[in-house]
Amino acid sequence: MFHSLWLLRRKVREIGFHPALAYTAKMICRKFFRPGDVIFALRPYEWEASPPRCPPSFSVCPLNSLAHLSEGDRQILRDYGGDKMVESFTTQFARGATPWVGRIQEQLAGVCWLVPASISSDYFFPLLEGDAVISSCFTIPRHRGKGVFSRILYQIAKSSSKRGLRRIFINCKTWNAPSMRGILKAGFKEIGVANRVRIARRNITIWQRGELK
Ligand SMILES: CC(C)(COP(=O)(O)OP(=O)(O)OC[C@H]1O[C@@H](n2cnc3c(N)ncnc32)[C@H](O)[C@@H]1OP(=O)(O)O)[C@@H](O)C(=O)NCCC(=O)NCCS
Repeated sequence: MFHSLWLLRRKVREIGFHPALAYTAKMICRKFFRPGDVIFALRPYEWEASPPRCPPSFSVCPLNSLAHLSEGDRQILRDYGGDKMVESFTTQFARGATPWVGRIQEQLAGVCWLVPASISSDYFFPLLEGDAVISSCFTIPRHRGKGVFSRILYQIAKSSSKRGLRRIFINCKTWNAPSMRGILKAGFKEIGVANRVRIARRNITIWQRGELK
């Protein structure tokens, strides 16, 4: 709010009152009315889903050590997201997140990261002990539409009570239809749509619809 007023005053001096008003309104709209995120939750004790279809040669498992990433896997990651993608594996793993890797005929086809609440300090709402967030998911483009993403999520959900998880959250942009479809197929339930905005150096969640109950 203060930042918006400050922006308006500065612009009035620069370009005059009416153009400045239009400019500031546009900035505020951009900030507040960006496409929101659909947030989904899964509570293992009430989770129900049938296994999403996937190729016969598909397998999925969590990586407990990055030594399990072969040179072939690293090359696939590099081809998809450059060296940054490979580096992000090391950084996220060092933080305590676990990559769940889906493979088709032993080749890396998709990844979803399971991030415990203890290291997800800035989510849409405060997380509790036993919560986890699934983030940074992707399927290698040539394998999309085969069920890779939804099947990885399904396997995470299936193992979640054994891992002592109470709630798992995942979010995606409102325009991301394949992601939403995959999340729902794995048995997650929508809890709402929200925006994250930064006001006075704080991240604030504005719910457009629903909210965590
Ligand atoms: C989102 C993403 C992970 C989905 O991976 P995927 O392995 O192709 O997903 P799945 O095959 O499990 O499911 C996708 C579903 O969306 C459907 N779909 C694909 N494009 C669609 C579209 N434009 N509109 C509606 N549904 C669509 C597919 O048909 C499939 O549903 P079906 O099995 O009922 O036919 C993949 O597209 C991706 O990597 N995108 C870029 C990164 C990204 O957006 N990540 C999102 C993280 S939350």
